[in-house]
Amino acid sequence: MSIIQVRDVTKVYNKEQVPVHALNGVSLDIEEGEFTAIVGPSGSGKTTLLNIIGGLDEPTEGTVEIHDTKIFSMSESKLIDFRLHHIGFVFQAYNLIPVLTAKENIAFILQMQGRPQKECTHRSMELLKMVGLEDKVDKRPSELSGGQQQRVAVARALASKPDFVLADEPTANLDSASTANLLDMMLRLNEEESITFIFSTHDQRVVERARRVVTLVDGKVDTDEERTEKNIEH
Ligand SMILES: Nc1ncnc2c1ncn2[C@@H]1O[C@H](COP(=O)(O)OP(=O)(O)OP(=O)(O)O)[C@@H](O)[C@H]1O
Ligand SMILES: [Mg+2]
Repeated sequence: MSIIQVRDVTKVYNKEQVPVHALNGVSLDIEEGEFTAIVGPSGSGKTTLLNIIGGLDEPTEGTVEIHDTKIFSMSESKLIDFRLHHIGFVFQAYNLIPVLTAKENIAFILQMQGRPQKECTHRSMELLKMVGLEDKVDKRPSELSGGQQQRVAVARALASKPDFVLADEPTANLDSASTANLLDMMLRLNEEESITFIFSTHDQRVVERARRVVTLVDGKVDTDEERTEKNIEH
């Protein structure tokens, strides 16, 4: 069963002045357990699509349903709460809070959900272990490498046990070794913890390891390719 249904989504920016058609009728279903790359040239609409799936930006037309809930029919405050409980976000620039340690950056999300302090700390430690950073729990972002910061960001995205994780060019600022490490980790989380990942990328090495590749061109789905085990490179 699909967890995300995108239907006939269009997005026009600057409607009053010169309109920019960022998305031109995108329909897409995402099933539970997918490891899907959204690719396409710069300006093809990848970020716009991820932001709309994540409820961070509203479509001009069309709908997004997550587990049968039309997310843009909700009030703003319901949508904020829905995002907090159902969707994990990973950004290109990590977006960790600089004054908080790795553990606190993760616990912060759980605190926003109103979880008891003890549970926040326990789960933060558990998540840092899951991403291989149990020895960095008390480090601030400035004391971590880019790859380590992005691992914390993935752990933070998983804190609320989201239905899926959206990642906009998660490896764009990483060197090739850190990119490979992050990918290994994401694939392991996908396979062992059944975490659904949808990520955009320009990096061919990342694309090669995706199980499904959706290519956008001019705001439309150009190709949508499922990978078989045989042609995935490990
Ligand atoms: N807030 C905005 N206001 C106006 N136009 C925008 C806005 N955000 C995006 N656009 C335009 O929408 C189109 C799609 O942009 P988007 O950022 O989704 O592309 P992208 O595929 O993510 O590109 P990149 O690979 O460079 O990140 C582009 O033409 C862009 O200039
Ligand atoms: Mg983008």
